[in-house]
Order: sequence, then C-alpha cells, then structure tokens
Amino acid sequence: MKNKLKERIEFIDKSLNEFLPDDNNLQSIVYDSMRYSVFAGGKRLRPILMLETARMFGADWDTIKEFACALEMIHTYSLIHDDLPAMDNDDLRRGIPTNHIKFGEDIAILAGDGLLNKAFETALQSKSPFILDALKELAFSSGTEGMIGGQVVDLKSEGKQIGLDTLKYIHSLKTGALIRSACVIGAILSDADDFEIQAVKDFAINLGIAFQIRDDILDVIGDTKTLGKKVGSDVQSDKNTYVSLLGIDKSIELADKYSQDAKASLMPFGEKASFLAELTDFLIDRNN
Ligand code: IPE
Ligand code: IPE
Ligand code: MG
Ligand code: MG
Ligand code: MG
Repeated sequence: MKNKLKERIEFIDKSLNEFLPDDNNLQSIVYDSMRYSVFAGGKRLRPILMLETARMFGADWDTIKEFACALEMIHTYSLIHDDLPAMDNDDLRRGIPTNHIKFGEDIAILAGDGLLNKAFETALQSKSPFILDALKELAFSSGTEGMIGGQVVDLKSEGKQIGLDTLKYIHSLKTGALIRSACVIGAILSDADDFEIQAVKDFAINLGIAFQIRDDILDVIGDTKTLGKKVGSDVQSDKNTYVSLLGIDKSIELADKYSQDAKASLMPFGEKASFLAELTDFLIDRNN
C-alpha cells in the first residue's frame, strides 16, 4: 500500500506544482504562504480517492487532475483556517509550524481564501464534458451544507454536551463532505451511472466518518512527531469527539464498523474496488 500511495502522491504533487506556481509580484507573500501549507506534506487522501474512483470507472488520471488538485487546495485551506487562534488554535501542522505562526494571521486567512479561489480557477481548466456537475458537487461539499457547516457546528459545540447524533452530523460534514466529493467527482468525471455514483457515495460517507473517528483517537493516543500535529488539542479546546463521548475502545470499534459499512458499499464493483477496500483498512489503522 505504501508504494501504491507513493506513486499517486508523486502524480498529485507534480500536478499541484503546475497549478500553483511561485509568483514574483508585490503580493508574492500570499503565494509563499499557500505553497508553504500545500507542499508541507499531507497524505493527499482526497485526491487519491478521486484518482482511484476514476480509475475504477476507466478514466485516465490526466482527465481528472484539475479537480483532484482543486480538492486538495480546498482541504488545505480548511486546515489553515482550522488552525487559526479563532478556531482550534494549533501551532503544528503537517510536521511544521502552522501557517499563521509562520506568516501571521492576516496572511494565513488570505492564503486560505486564495486557495479556495485558486481551487475553482484550477477546476475550471478541466476539459471534461461533465465539468458543471463536478463543480456543483465541489462547491456544495465545501460550503455551508458541507465542510464549512460541519466546522460551524464543531466550534459552536465546544464545551457543550451533545449527543452521538450531533457528533455524527459534525463528522459527516466537516470531514465526510470532502471525502464524499472526492469519490463522487471521480465518478462524475468518468461518466459513471447513477447507481455507481450512489454506491461510491455510500462508501465515502462511511469512510469519512471512520476517518474522522480515527483522527479523534489519534489526538489522544497518537504521537506528535508521527502525527505532525499536537496531540491533546481536542481536550484543550473542550471538543466533542468520539473519544470524549465513548472512550477509546468503543471509538476503535465504531471506526471499524463504519469501515466495514464502507467496504460493503464497494461490493457491486468486485475486484475493481480492491484498492479502495485495502485503503480503507489502511486508514483505519493509520498513525498519522
Ligand atoms: C486532517 O485531514 C483533518 C481531518 C479532516 C481529519 P488529513 O488527516 O487528511 O490531513 P493531511 O492532509 O494528511 O495533512
Ligand atoms: C478538522 O477537524 C476538519 C477540517 C479541517 C475541515 P479537526 O480539527 O479534528 O482536524 P485536525 O485534527 O486539526 O487535523
Ligand atoms: Mg477543528
Ligand atoms: Mg483542528
Ligand atoms: Mg482532529
């Protein structure tokens, strides 16, 4: 799996470098700041999911690279803003100081905004006949009914008692939405039919929840150096997480249950989905 991921990450990094070049004008600091966070590493999970979904439906990576990079830009913007003092107030991300620690809050906010706009500029370079449907999914999943909505409820629930339903709602939106759109956009751009799109959507929704439960677990049992972000951040911000509601053991069980549900949705694709199934197992045991 590590080798397979490496090949995909190289393709994504090369494409990101094309779409996000250095600039040398008066505002070049904002490009430095955008590139600082984008090229700090990162697992590239969302573009990998998009590439793999497209491959499963017979499309070439080159035909989806604009959207794969756009999604990673939106994800990175969400992390830059997530780390701000006004939000989670974190000072380490992807193994290096967070964007606002390095560039200041003003530039970090603008770099996040810049990445969001650059994402749509990049996606608009796609030559796909399905570009409008894909753009609709990209905008919806990153907006107030998607990632932003989840971040709002996450922040406004700090220090409050919430139920498991609300927590699942937060995780499905703040993290699940972009993971869902990775797979759905990969399917749309490969001209998958409605049944196929629904199946990958079900897969990704369950994977997204499992992925964020593991993130909550790693915030407690992880190691800062391996994780590239500070362990214990959720407790410090009085966050509601699967671990704070249910404890570690039950959280591990639930992450496993959601990953099983995710894999069950891949059944119709048989052997063609074996990479996605393997990736699901890999992610649920990950240490970063
Ligand atoms: C971190 O996402 C934020 C969550 C949604 C859990 P990732 O764990 O995918 O972060 P990177 O991209 O690898 O840094
Ligand atoms: C963040 O969830 C999800 C988004 C950035 C949209 P977390 O706040 O748990 O992510 P980390 O742990 O800081 O990466
Ligand atoms: Mg957060
Ligand atoms: Mg955070
Ligand atoms: Mg977290």
